[in-house]
Amino acid sequence: SDVVIVAVDGPAGSGKSSVSKQVARALGFGYLDTGAAYRALAWHALAREVDTSDATAVLEAVSDFDFRISLDPDDYWVRSGEVDVTEAIREQRVTDAVSGVARVPAIRRAINAAFRRLVAASGRPGVVVEGRDITTVVAPDAPARILLTADPAVRAARRSAEISGSTAAEVAEALRRRDSSDSKVVDFLTAAPGVAVVDSTALDFDETVAEVLAVARREL
Ligand code: C5P
Repeated sequence: SDVVIVAVDGPAGSGKSSVSKQVARALGFGYLDTGAAYRALAWHALAREVDTSDATAVLEAVSDFDFRISLDPDDYWVRSGEVDVTEAIREQRVTDAVSGVARVPAIRRAINAAFRRLVAASGRPGVVVEGRDITTVVAPDAPARILLTADPAVRAARRSAEISGSTAAEVAEALRRRDSSDSKVVDFLTAAPGVAVVDSTALDFDETVAEVLAVARREL
């Protein structure tokens, strides 16, 4: 398709989602949150009482998984069929199950094919696509590819501020565990050749958006 992709990868708590949304607004692009697809599939599997550590069972659950997502950065929602799961996919039980679902290669292939269709049908000049393997697998030929990083302690502190009911230490440990499990599947902690690194450790939100936009505008 002729739709331009700005690819943004990074670990949990790097600020990827909020930064990518803002960059999409600034460019007049769509915004695609790929983590939401893995989360929605985990939600769907849990709703069907599928054992999410059983790859075959999860693969079976994909067959009647009807993933829908808004690419509008100003009107973000996620649905599984007719069910609005925008909030539910952020629940801890889903977060705990998602890495197991995302580990299965056949699932990744099916979901990546869905991403390409969504981008092609976006009706936008471009889409900011955000996740873990966008710069390397989903859109390795994207004109602008960015790895957004931040020190683990800073990421844990940011995540902790968003979540209630857990201590900072619990959040840090959960983040570490998910990064460790996810990075066995795709490497999102080091930049692939040609990928620009933006380290947000010492930057606030606006500064991070400005840096990512600068990279995007330089490459587009
Ligand atoms: O970005 P977010 O934290 O919402 O992603 C949820 C999970 O989805 C990640 O922990 C990872 O297991 C999976 N994921 C992935 N590849 C992507 C995006 C997310 O495996 N491109």
